[in-house]
Amino acid sequence: MSLYSQHVLPRLIAGAMRDRRFVPYRQRVLALAEGRVLEIGAGSGVNLPFYSDRTTEIVGLEPHPKLRAMAERAGLRVIQGSAEAIPLDSASVDCVVTTWTLCSIPDAAAALEEMRRVLRPGGRLLFVEHGLALDAGVRRWQQRLTPLWKHIAGGCHLDRDIPGLIRKAGFDIVQLETGHMEGPRPMTFMYEGWAI
Ligand SMILES: C[S@@+](CC[C@H](N)C(=O)[O-])C[C@H]1O[C@@H](n2cnc3c(N)ncnc32)[C@H](O)[C@@H]1O
Repeated sequence: MSLYSQHVLPRLIAGAMRDRRFVPYRQRVLALAEGRVLEIGAGSGVNLPFYSDRTTEIVGLEPHPKLRAMAERAGLRVIQGSAEAIPLDSASVDCVVTTWTLCSIPDAAAALEEMRRVLRPGGRLLFVEHGLALDAGVRRWQQRLTPLWKHIAGGCHLDRDIPGLIRKAGFDIVQLETGHMEGPRPMTFMYEGWAI
């Protein structure tokens, strides 16, 4: 790991993800979480205050040691590991939460298959992600920018087809809202919803 990704990047990620514009998305999606929850790529633990008391246990999964330490300081129980090989038993959680992680997980397809494996039958995948826009002009910019962007932004891809990836892993999307958040258009096309 370079000095940049070891020390600078986690601080940049933690700061950027505290942006107030994300708060309404977090509120809406995390209000749906219940029972035993696995949060993928928990970052610095910024989602923790948004869970309701319908959750019985929240476990974060976070590969970056600095972000994991921040999340633990925020009061989250965090396990070390990667979403492509989740260190939990099959059918052992009621909800999987992913907020702005599918953009940067190297193998998002494998990660979603793992999320499906650990979910109990009928359990829910709750998601807020940014990804491929509907507008052709914005898509072209997303495709142009991603090769550079992913090097400075922790592997973040601007042009992933989020609903396509979710469906390909065998989920049925029950609710999906899309649209641009305020900000530069290639970075702000959001997908929010849940799947079973
Ligand atoms: C943009 S941050 C989002 C953090 C947090 N989910 C939030 O909503 O603020 C992306 C997160 O995905 C994590 N991540 C990257 N690759 C991962 C992987 N293979 N498995 C699990 N998490 C990963 C990063 O370490 C980081 O915490």
